[in-house]
Amino acid sequence: MDKFLINGPCKIKGKVSISGSKNASIPILAATLLFNKPVIIKNLPKVRDINTMLNLLKSLGSKITLSRDRKTAKIINKKNMKTFASYSLVKTMRGSILVLGPLISKFYKSKISLPGGCLIGARPVDYHLSALKKLGMEYKIRDGYILAKSNGRLKGEIIKFPKISVGATENSIIAACLAKGKTILKNCAVEPEIKDLTQFLNKAGANIRWSGRICTIIGINSLTSTNYTVMADRIEAGTFCVAATLTKGSLQIKNLDPKMINTELELLKKFGAKIKINNNNIFIKGPDKIKSIKNIKTKEFPGIPTDLQAQLMVLMCKSSGKSSITESIFENRFMHVAELQRLGAKINVINNKAIIEGNTKLKGAELMSSDLRASVALVLAAMVANGKSIVGRVYHLERGYENIENKLQKIGVKIKRLK
Ligand code: UD1
Repeated sequence: MDKFLINGPCKIKGKVSISGSKNASIPILAATLLFNKPVIIKNLPKVRDINTMLNLLKSLGSKITLSRDRKTAKIINKKNMKTFASYSLVKTMRGSILVLGPLISKFYKSKISLPGGCLIGARPVDYHLSALKKLGMEYKIRDGYILAKSNGRLKGEIIKFPKISVGATENSIIAACLAKGKTILKNCAVEPEIKDLTQFLNKAGANIRWSGRICTIIGINSLTSTNYTVMADRIEAGTFCVAATLTKGSLQIKNLDPKMINTELELLKKFGAKIKINNNNIFIKGPDKIKSIKNIKTKEFPGIPTDLQAQLMVLMCKSSGKSSITESIFENRFMHVAELQRLGAKINVINNKAIIEGNTKLKGAELMSSDLRASVALVLAAMVANGKSIVGRVYHLERGYENIENKLQKIGVKIKRLK
């Protein structure tokens, strides 16, 4: 298993170009199952989760042609697609559950493995299932699989999600596109990735409208052939902004609409970062002294993303006083804490709140990645630790960060892959 060797401390300087969004690409790729006509998706990030999704689509019968740089996919579905998604494909990526909505909507049946638990919490799929049931899907769970069917086309309904869920909102929107009549989804997640999905579907003829957290979908008979460019990855951009702030660096972030990360940029200003925006470029400069902030809370968009919590915690370790951050989306998303402590971080976790002593001198150590965002936080911490650190299990990073070591090397980070 590959590892990263990082020699700290490093100072970041230069430009970085943000790749396509993983979390927007996954639902968009799932939604291509609704099409009879060819679809072209551009700006896919070259990351492991996208390979997983493409393999899942192939296993269902989609013919996929990738461009040489593997960022553009032309997808053509067979008339008779398979509707079975095996445990071996689903277990590596929870997002695979997003094929359930389109399979039921288009082919009226599906057998798909339950994604199971994952390290950051139980992450059930009950909201997905109850929303699809309201649209007319019948299902039972047997031997770890969801066995689902519908009696012909799904039917539009009014659905109110009990809690905001990105995946359940996406699955329901995709399923409702080809349903009969009008679906009204209330208490929806409104993450930019979901807006990207609806923009893609509307471009192909779907009728989806938003008003705050309410999404109204008027079902249509079929979607038309289209091509679509996926939005840039706001979590990758946020991670690089944290990196610049953390290392007293100066960085130009290219290829991302800065509005996508407005909350994050405002927060980083409070930590002391100097930020300038010019069209789709963000210029960020880290302060000499990082300020401490108490009582930060992760929240659904437009709040502070849970996917940046671990990275922000590293910043807090190096800030000038005590800080705290509460994780309010997932119940067990502090696995990076024990690893950061191995570098010397002083962090105390009480329930879902982490209290972080600032002014910590981190010292290089051997570290183990546990999940995607936790692992990038370890890389950030190693960048400001004195001496050598080794970050193990980098495949977690490869799930969602395109070319991370090359991007970091180019801006001055002493990082090397060990095979
Ligand atoms: C998506 C993102 C992930 C991000 C998360 C929150 C993708 C591929 N992944 O994950 O990076 O961290 O949003 O922004 O886009 N829940 C239930 N029942 C359900 C569904 C969710 O209880 O049926 C709970 C979850 O356990 C969690 C919360 O709702 O506590 C939010 O989860 P959700 O928004 O659904 O996250 P994902 O779509 O899995």
